[in-house]
Amino acid sequence: MQIATSLQQIQPSYLREILAAASSEGVISFAGGLPDASSFPMSLMQQSLHNMADKPVLFQYAGTQGYPPLLSYCAAHYQLKSEHLSLICNGSQQGLDLIARAFINPGDCVVMEAPSYLGALQVFGLAQANILSVNSNQQGPDLNELEQCFRDNQVKIFYAVPDFHNPTGVCWSLATRLKVAQLCCEYNVTLLEDVPYRELHFSGESLPLVSSFCVEHSIVLRSFSKFIAPGMRLGVVSAKANWINALIKVKQAADLHTNIPMQALLLDILQHPGFATHLVNLRKSYAQRYAKMAALISEKLDNFCQFEPVTGGMFIWLSIKDCNVMALAERALTLGVSIVPSDVFYTDAKQQPSALRLNFSHTPLGQIATGIDRLSQSIKDGD
Ligand SMILES: Cc1ncc(COP(=O)(O)O)c(C=O)c1O
Repeated sequence: MQIATSLQQIQPSYLREILAAASSEGVISFAGGLPDASSFPMSLMQQSLHNMADKPVLFQYAGTQGYPPLLSYCAAHYQLKSEHLSLICNGSQQGLDLIARAFINPGDCVVMEAPSYLGALQVFGLAQANILSVNSNQQGPDLNELEQCFRDNQVKIFYAVPDFHNPTGVCWSLATRLKVAQLCCEYNVTLLEDVPYRELHFSGESLPLVSSFCVEHSIVLRSFSKFIAPGMRLGVVSAKANWINALIKVKQAADLHTNIPMQALLLDILQHPGFATHLVNLRKSYAQRYAKMAALISEKLDNFCQFEPVTGGMFIWLSIKDCNVMALAERALTLGVSIVPSDVFYTDAKQQPSALRLNFSHTPLGQIATGIDRLSQSIKDGD
């Protein structure tokens, strides 16, 4: 049987291959977007897991939209408007897929930042969207380019990661947030705001969601993977009711509903008196790992590379002038460190500057120096 045309045009995932290699023994992984497993809030789960044995109703088939007490928590905690709804998904990745299936016809224009999250590129590629890229800088997307793009095309969705972007780590400025929201309203474009890293700021408070300035023109995708545990596979999509109702229809056909015991467990974690401390400790730990990696890069790679400091998230975007970063990633792997080359984050890799995405959340503090030494050696070997 022939595979569908939409799938034939999807390239094999380099990231999947490198992640498989990255888990080999002895390899230090700066490659994946993995949280630190030792930070998972296991102690906040124990009582809840124990109590579940007495709640068989949690293990029955249930409604597609999600576990009602968790939906109520989302409505209150995210201060959703009364005419807005949420849908609980198998990770925010499923939310992305449902949105593409519910709203994208082949050829519809979807604008993405360049570089952009690989998983979103894959979803919109499979949906046969016409993906248009807008370059980004330290403030967020290039606003002139974005407006030009909105003006010249019939854009349906602008997919963006404004908080500690994957792969660049950039957090959009307030001015950019306001302007993007204004442009989405003006050109009737739906902003798809994907915020899995939003909770991971090293200090201070989060900036307002871009969507808060264009509520009726936006869909927000949240994830519990990065600050609780990705294996629970839980995320939530929020938007106005008629859009969420369309997503519910697609989800019903896809998998009936998300795992109810996991949703109940998630709610117990979020409401546990120890949850706030968990978040404080997690932010502190990632800030330490980032500071260590950033200091080592400045000390050992200064002649070859440069990066912009980040204030949260999981990634450093390391620019390396005139370098074949695919070849560098392969050399680095043979020396026992995995990294992701910039090419995979662009629709058109040829025109793009050479860079690497380095993850700092996964590797224990004590191993970061060895990883940077190996990376330094593999860069020198290519000289
Ligand atoms: C920007 C972005 N969106 C969505 C996801 C998917 O997250 P999950 O499906 O685990 O919620 C990721 C995962 O790395 C991501 O980086």
